[in-house]
Amino acid sequence: MKLWSCLAPSRPLRVVQCLSSLLLIAFTSTVLAASPAPSDPAGELTWITIGADAFATLQQATDVTRGHQPLNKFAERSGVVLTRVATRDLPDISAKMHTAHRRCGGFLAHRSLAEAQATLSRVDQAQRGTIEYLLDQQPLVQQLASLVQEAPILSTIEALSTDFNNRFHAHPSGTLASEWIRDRWHSFTLARPDVTVELVNHPGVSQPSVVLTIPGSIRADEVVVLGGHLDSIASGSSNPDFLAPGADDDASGIAVLTEVIRVAMAGDFRPQRTIRFMGYAAEEIGLVGSQDIAASSRAAGVDVVAVLQLDMTAYNGSTEDFGLLNDFTNSTLTTFLTQLIDTYQPERQWTLTACGYGCSDHAAWHNQGFPAAMPFETRFGQHNPTIHSTSDTLATLNNSAAHAAKFARLGVAFMAEIGIDDAGELFANGFEEGSTEGWTHTLP
Ligand code: BES
Ligand code: ZN
Repeated sequence: MKLWSCLAPSRPLRVVQCLSSLLLIAFTSTVLAASPAPSDPAGELTWITIGADAFATLQQATDVTRGHQPLNKFAERSGVVLTRVATRDLPDISAKMHTAHRRCGGFLAHRSLAEAQATLSRVDQAQRGTIEYLLDQQPLVQQLASLVQEAPILSTIEALSTDFNNRFHAHPSGTLASEWIRDRWHSFTLARPDVTVELVNHPGVSQPSVVLTIPGSIRADEVVVLGGHLDSIASGSSNPDFLAPGADDDASGIAVLTEVIRVAMAGDFRPQRTIRFMGYAAEEIGLVGSQDIAASSRAAGVDVVAVLQLDMTAYNGSTEDFGLLNDFTNSTLTTFLTQLIDTYQPERQWTLTACGYGCSDHAAWHNQGFPAAMPFETRFGQHNPTIHSTSDTLATLNNSAAHAAKFARLGVAFMAEIGIDDAGELFANGFEEGSTEGWTHTLP
């Protein structure tokens, strides 16, 4: 499967943003080098999966008189359409995605119909999910949320954006940043021997991801993930010392995760489900760390019941406090986020918004069939304009973590509400496994 990325950026910001996507092409081409280009056996047609809205645009734009293939919708699941296009049209489609939908990427090209169908069915699975999300932990959430502070969030952003020239996946400083995060997370767990922190290596990249695990007490096989990417990017990345502070993108997400961990440990939080905090490596070159972890989780049959993605949390650029992504996410889980905000931060506003492409690690989980949600700093398009440049610094964030602290409170609520399931406790103790044969009852 190949994520087709944009080739024709339309404004300066996208030039830099698409830089990472071009790297992605280079990366996936290397990965795919041993296999044939994604096309049908005759080498002329390619199966793609694409958002239903973008499909409608393509259908309108298709000019059959100029030799373009008429577009057929072979299947549609959860807002994603399966269609087949001429392989030579792929660059034009990419450009169209860019001009019509401002999407850098926006569709997946597949090697075979079977691969395309598998993708559709996983997306459908991601939308269905496996559990009910219940909001029933008010005293606990209120107690934990009251422990959230801005100062530690600010100090994590500062350390990550100034103590390392960059956190690029291929340079020594990128690996040092992973080790720094591991050590910081570990420092909160000294009184909790049940909690583990480890580095996770990925094929082809030197930078490891960081994973902290709080094991669940009675539903340990059900896993709740809170994650964000730890790498950063800007132009000039061939020099190991180039500057890519990535204060907002995404030191701010790692800083929020770090604060949620600090609060969980300070409050001696003991979940029923297993909670995993993840700092993903190499997101900026194509979700490499998260794709590896999500694919291994699928292959190992891990029951990931909810994923929260934190990528860019500190730039306050919209009238609303949270932009909740409604693409590449599970709509039930996103609705649950709205309930968490309305209940625990009633003074905060949220709106729904979309990247229009798999813009961050939530898409890696979604594409593997796991329910994911992503609260974002603004409406898409009103976000921090300095990302992927040397100006993505704490100064651009007004030296404030006030906006990010809202995401930490939301993260605490997500962790405690999904991590504990009192309604399911009876069944978790084995009742649903047992037989009712031989039971007697007396009707009144
Ligand atoms: N943090 C960005 C994603 C983002 C940017 C979300 C702007 C919303 C608004 C992320 O780190 C990133 O740069 N993603 C890449 C795509 C990825 C697949 C390489 C991008 O957006 O170009
Ligand atoms: Zn990012």
